Amino acid sequence: MNRGRFIAFEGAEGVGKTTQIRLLASSLEEAGVPSVVTREPGGTSIGEGIRDLVLRSAGPVPPETELLLILAARAAFVREVVAPSLAAGKWVLSDRFDLSTFAYQGHGRGIDLGRIERLNAYAAGGVAPDLYVVLDLAADEGMARQMRAGKSPDRFESEGAAFHRAVRTGYLELAESLDRAVLVPADGSPEAVGERIRREIVARFPETLRGGAV
Ligand code: TMP
Repeated sequence: MNRGRFIAFEGAEGVGKTTQIRLLASSLEEAGVPSVVTREPGGTSIGEGIRDLVLRSAGPVPPETELLLILAARAAFVREVVAPSLAAGKWVLSDRFDLSTFAYQGHGRGIDLGRIERLNAYAAGGVAPDLYVVLDLAADEGMARQMRAGKSPDRFESEGAAFHRAVRTGYLELAESLDRAVLVPADGSPEAVGERIRREIVARFPETLRGGAV
């Protein structure tokens, strides 16, 4: 049995990750490739509890607490969801993974990137994506999409424009510096963005997708 692939969808608020994951999952299904759709923080029972704390806590949350909670959720996520699914030959499509930590807690909150790298290595235990799909939109456009969606904003969505610009700049730098990352413009229709992602997947994993079955 082939080992599955771990694809992390990344990007700032409102770039359309969730829709794109759904589109890829259904293309994979049509191609007969089993996949698991999941998210971070979350994906496990304890992780969803931590997500609630991190996103909705009413009182102050120091950046150090935020980082350690997210990494605590990640430790369960890689061991309970990612590693077993890959071993069972499934593709794991995750709505966010560790680039979010570098972008939000590093570039956004200002925690030293080297420190994040060391702590993240412990939490992730060597599990790393085969590909990061980094969706990119102008930060203001992403936030405007979020506002139109009409949900009550969480702790990150409530941050100001400077925070969101720092997160976006962080993602652009991260995408540039990593071979396993592809930067995908997220403007246009969901189908147009989906086509850009599909092309990248076919180019990178032709063996699994049998020359473009996806
Ligand atoms: P979302 O994926 O539904 O937008 O919400 C998750 C939020 O959690 C998002 O605002 C980014 C934040 N987050 C971090 O700050 N660091 C992380 O490592 C992860 C995975 C998410």
